[in-house]
Amino acid sequence: MTLYISVSPDSEALAERSVDVLEVLCGKAIEQYGRFVLSLAGGSTPRAVYTMWAQRTRLDWSKAVLLFGDERCVPPDHEQSNYRMAAETLLAGISQQPEILRMEGEHADPAQAAHNYDYAVRQLLGAEGHIHVALLGVGSDGHTASLFPGMAALRQSDAYCVSTPSPDGAMERITLTVPCLRAARKLMFLAAGGDKADVLRRVLEGPLHPEQLPAQFFLRDERLNVNLLLDEAGAAQLSRRE
Ligand code: 6PG
Repeated sequence: MTLYISVSPDSEALAERSVDVLEVLCGKAIEQYGRFVLSLAGGSTPRAVYTMWAQRTRLDWSKAVLLFGDERCVPPDHEQSNYRMAAETLLAGISQQPEILRMEGEHADPAQAAHNYDYAVRQLLGAEGHIHVALLGVGSDGHTASLFPGMAALRQSDAYCVSTPSPDGAMERITLTVPCLRAARKLMFLAAGGDKADVLRRVLEGPLHPEQLPAQFFLRDERLNVNLLLDEAGAAQLSRRE
């Protein structure tokens, strides 16, 4: 299984390590393919990474294509928008602007917005068909992107992007699907903090129930190429740490 686990002492060191790894992965994609296609995650851990990455990057961002792994169904200036978070952190700090494929969280019909995104992603990826790096987080219920336990979105075998309710019923989401994300050349999971320790143990070392712990679709599949970057608090309950 190609799962590389890296444990940093704290969240600051985790952000530094994540930036270093992203620079290498995206730089290699530019060398090999002339561009890098990166899907972004929402959440608190990526926020810190994006801010630091924008300050330190040496990449040619005009060769970047940024996708979103998921989005809340809100306008792009809403405080819960993943696009807004990326815009205020990563995009605000880099001088060359990448190509950006934004999910239309503001669309009146989320299923149509997901369908539009599905089409746009297929057009973008073309015959090559791969995201180069997919950044993902892990929620305390084992979700990743907006792939929540038990939801129909998990059972999509063809679509690259779907709309889905969130379990708290708060707001609809749009998310890339399991097959789309599994096709990424590299999956890079970020998780920090003691509140992730239990779920990380269950996802990595517990019984295999990906319908209940969707992160297992990626973190328990030996055919995939996965980096899992943690801090000490998040890794506290793992027996295997490398
Ligand atoms: C989101 C993400 C979600 C997130 C995890 C972890 O926009 O909320 O798509 O999957 O990555 O919930 O989030 P934290 O890093 O905030 O714990």
